[in-house]
Amino acid sequence: MTAILQDAAQSASLDRLFTAAHAARENAYAPYSHFAVGAAVRTPDGAIFSGANVENAAYPAGCCAETGAIAAMVAAGGRQIAEVLVVADCGEGIWPCGACRQRIAEFATEDAVVHSAGPEGVRQSIKFAALLPRAFDRQTLESESG
Ligand code: THU
Repeated sequence: MTAILQDAAQSASLDRLFTAAHAARENAYAPYSHFAVGAAVRTPDGAIFSGANVENAAYPAGCCAETGAIAAMVAAGGRQIAEVLVVADCGEGIWPCGACRQRIAEFATEDAVVHSAGPEGVRQSIKFAALLPRAFDRQTLESESG
């Protein structure tokens, strides 16, 4: 593929990721925080899975949008995340919370990218490795020397 075609394909794929996360956000269940979040993950083969935050009267039982998107991916057989997009309507922009960074780390490819979006579109994109350096992962667990 030429560079221009590749750029166009990448931008179409990012549009699909944003559309999926944005649509999920419309269905967010956030009656306590009133902070609606949508998330979407893309596997290396192009499949997209989305989720929204689901709060609960027992606050700690609530789930983040990323958690829902990852659960949908796993239920469909997906095991790798190449891209994550999170969307909320907040001034400074949204990035996955600490617990969700750990959940993403379980499936992120080496060069996975995370996009932070507002309702109008993507604002910033960074490599996942920069969001959670030195993650506790499967290799750490398997390298136990005791
Ligand atoms: N939330 C997410 O869905 N994803 C994040 O990365 C950060 C926070 C949700 C959880 C809760 O429902 C609301 O945002 C306020 O914390």
